[in-house]
This record gives sequence, structure tokens and C-alpha cells, in this order.
Amino acid sequence: MIAKIEQLLQEVEAMTANNAEELEALRIKYLSKKGAISELMTDFRNVPAEQKKEMGMKLNELKNKAQEKIAALKEQFDTRDNECDGLDLTRTAYPIALGTRHPLSIVRNEIIDIFGRMGFNISEGPEVEDDLHVYTKLNFAADHPARDMQDTFFVEVNDEDVTKNIILRSHTSSVQVRVMEHAQPPIRIVCPGRVYRNEAISYRAHCFFHQVEGLYVDKGVSFTDLKQVLLLFAQEMFGAETKIRLRPSYFPFTEPSAEMDISCNICGGKGCPFCKHTGWVEILGCGMVDPNVLDACGIDSKVYSGYAFGMGIERIANLKYRVSDLRLFSENDTRFLKEFEAAH
Ligand code: DAH
Repeated sequence: MIAKIEQLLQEVEAMTANNAEELEALRIKYLSKKGAISELMTDFRNVPAEQKKEMGMKLNELKNKAQEKIAALKEQFDTRDNECDGLDLTRTAYPIALGTRHPLSIVRNEIIDIFGRMGFNISEGPEVEDDLHVYTKLNFAADHPARDMQDTFFVEVNDEDVTKNIILRSHTSSVQVRVMEHAQPPIRIVCPGRVYRNEAISYRAHCFFHQVEGLYVDKGVSFTDLKQVLLLFAQEMFGAETKIRLRPSYFPFTEPSAEMDISCNICGGKGCPFCKHTGWVEILGCGMVDPNVLDACGIDSKVYSGYAFGMGIERIANLKYRVSDLRLFSENDTRFLKEFEAAH
């Protein structure tokens, strides 16, 4: 029996296989129930007791060697299991979803681009502001209702702060103040940004929204310049056939002040529910910068004059895309955002 074991050991040592079938044949020949090694195991029962220990060890060695050798050979043919574990190379690729630009970013960029082509630069300022830049230097009287709790969010700096000095800006006009404090004319800027007002949230109002402020200060700037720039803007934004109309209005920081309407781009001026059958929709406020504002910011109002305008980005976006509920802009619902995939 020992000779037989030695012989099988040599055979196992020399075992080779060219493919999985040959390997399987070897496994059957040596390790299956009726294989050579199993047969020896059966014969082992008849081995005299004093030889059992030595013979048992030899037999085990043979069996382990055979199993190891077969396993090693198997690895050669089992490349699929080894290298591509769980990987299905025939599967189609996942579609990669590209993000889309937010509609307010699209409209903001378009506004900036139109004014950029007319020579305006971009300026930005802080959202957490102080009363000086949001109201006082913009010629708001101390008891102006816009400072009221109704509109302004006050920031509690510490328990002792009862001055209501630190606030969330309620309009981007504060940026014109910050720029004029540090620069001398010519100044030609647009200031995009987020603003906050203490309003109940509904389909037509939100506690924050976005504006673009415009400012041009130089020698001899007139209302005619303002009107021409706004006409060009309206026609670039809403189409060459767009008409504008200016209605007298009041803002503390401009004199004279106006509100600008464009011919309703939904009905073409014929009258529809959107323009309340007037044919016109309001899109911005504007006017000549009040000399008090120039002087408060360190610009000599006897030498320079300027115009300013301010518009809500949501309003322009509504006109372009007819979004019926303002809340959609801040909910991040991808079904809404995906509708702007084709816009740039
Ligand atoms: N700041 C005004 C608002 O938030 C908008 C505005 C009106 C800005 C007239 C201006 C302007 O610069 O001249 O309602």
C-alpha cells in the first residue's frame, strides 16, 4: 500500500490539465467517491493497527496534495470568477444625468450679459447689512415704513443690541452705496443678489427673492440715457418688438422716480389675464439718483449725476417662463428644474 501511495503522490505532483474538462477528469480519477485516493481510504481499514499511524499520515498527505493541486489548476481556468467578480460587461451603461442650471441663474446671467455688453461691471455686497447702507444713506427718513418690522428682518447680535442696526438687506440698492463709498465716477455697475423681506410665504410672495440693481454715475448723465438703456434691455430680454412705458413713482433714493412697464409679452399687448387686460406689465423701478444719496456716499452732486434701476429676477423669470408659483424657485423639485434643461 505504501508503494501505491508513493506512486499516486508522484502522479499528483506531475498533474497538468489544458482545460476545465481535463481537470474535471483528473478530479474524478483521484478524488471522486470511486477515485484512486478514495479506494485507498477504503483499503486503509485493513491496515494492521501498528502501521495505521504512519499510513494514515501518508494517506492524508496524498489527499491534501491532490486537493491543493486540483484547486491550483482550477484557478487557471476560472478567470471569470477571479477577475470579474460580479461585473457584467455586457450590461448597457447607466445614463449619466447632467445637472441643469437653476432658472433664476439662467435669467440672472442673461440680465448681467445684456448690461455687460453695454459696459456695466458686476458688483456684489453682503446680505447681512447695516441700517446705514440699506436705508440711511439711501435717503430713507427715520420713520420710513420700510424700516418697520413688516418688511425688515433684524439680526440679533447680542442681548443688549436693541438698536436694530444689523439687518438682512431688503434690496440690492445697498450695494450701490457700498460701491459709491469707495469709488469715484465713472461708475457703471449691475449688482445681482438675494434680498429678504418679512412676508408671509405664498404663491406670489416669499421671505427671500433676488434682484439686480443697476447704477450709472458720471458727468452729465440724464433721464434720456436711462430710458434708452432700459429700452435696449427690454428688447434684448423680451424681443425686438417690445415697447416700454415709464410711469411716475416714488423712491426715497431717486428723484425723479419711475416704474417701467413692458408691453405684455404673453399676449403681445392685446390684453390677457397675466397683464390684467391692460397690455402692460411692470418689471422694474428706476430714477435719477437723488443728490442726497450721492453726497452721503462722498460723490459731489454738483459735478456728477446718475441713474439707478432695480428689478426682481423672479418677476423677469415669470414673464419668460410663466412660472405660476413663486415657491417653485426655492423648492429644488427636480421635475421643475429639469424643465430648464434646454435653456442655457
Ligand atoms: N430698491 C427698490 C426695491 O427694492 C427697487 C429700485 C427702485 C431700485 C428704483 C432702484 C431704483 O435703483 O432706482 O423695490
